[in-house]
Amino acid sequence: MSVTRLHTTSVTAEGFELQLSADGRLRHLLTMRGLDRERIGELLDQSQAFVTSPGEPVARSDALRGKTVANLFFEPSTRTRASFDLAAKRLGADVLNLDVNTSSRKKGESILDMIYTLQAMRVDVFVVRDAEAGVPGFIARHVNEFVSILNAGESDVSHPTQALLDLLTIRQRKGRIEGLKVAIVGDIAHSRVARSASEALVTMGVGELRLVSPPALSPAAGTVPAEARILNRLDDGIRDADVVMALRIQRERIGNLDGIPGIDEYFASYGISHERMKLAAPGAIVMHPGPMNRGIEIESSLADSPCSVITQQVANGVAVRMAILSTVTQTLDNQRR
Ligand code: NCD
Repeated sequence: MSVTRLHTTSVTAEGFELQLSADGRLRHLLTMRGLDRERIGELLDQSQAFVTSPGEPVARSDALRGKTVANLFFEPSTRTRASFDLAAKRLGADVLNLDVNTSSRKKGESILDMIYTLQAMRVDVFVVRDAEAGVPGFIARHVNEFVSILNAGESDVSHPTQALLDLLTIRQRKGRIEGLKVAIVGDIAHSRVARSASEALVTMGVGELRLVSPPALSPAAGTVPAEARILNRLDDGIRDADVVMALRIQRERIGNLDGIPGIDEYFASYGISHERMKLAAPGAIVMHPGPMNRGIEIESSLADSPCSVITQQVANGVAVRMAILSTVTQTLDNQRR
């Protein structure tokens, strides 16, 4: 077993044990592992309650009135950060968006000292994105009992709120998750989106999960559920699929680009296009977590076509984060009683 595998396994196991309170409520959200079908179903139902149509007023409540949410993003983010920010504000929280470039972590302060500082200012929920595996779980082990940690993207390991918004979108469009054929295509090896989505899809009883990538970007052994089919040919992945999710090549996580196809070659072999989608099941949907590279992993006009649910995913992101923020702060309130 490789060192990476050992490290990753211990990280996810740690998150899995930590995220529930003594009485079984969701206290932190660190990983999709260990969340059962019933709990995921409940979280999707709660998220659905916050979904509104364009033109309608957005969902609001004062569930987080008096609470403070701090967004700590140590890696770039547009969608995830903006949606956590809006979700917290629409629930009435005070929100601190820390500018990590001017934060004292740049002066060498440890992440833990920074957390303790903000905890002393009575931050209730930390939303954390970091390039290093294990950071959200590490923080969760050190904060006091009145604080929650939400993982907003952890290295290539985990991105649980993205998995929930992906599941919610699939459920809305397909009416179910159970029995569907889902193909996730692209840089599986470095994708926290693929990892968390795979874990959640398997828990929800997906019919067939296909992880399709160039051989150099196939997942390392043990990093994805055993139920997944690991494929290297796009046609094998797309044929009869109900859902096709395209992923970006995570160049920032790839030290050595040897064996990774160049842009034109990549699109020809792995790009999701109108032509390729003819192989998919009738009514198949196309997903992408963003940020997307048009013309590389997805044909530009396909991304804007009726089968694309990419903007619906973004809209659902706010609803899912409202549901998670409400759930964990309720757990914190229960701990106070
Ligand atoms: C992804 C991420 O950051 O993991 N984006 C997102 O959160 N919506 C995927 C990516 O960066 O390619």
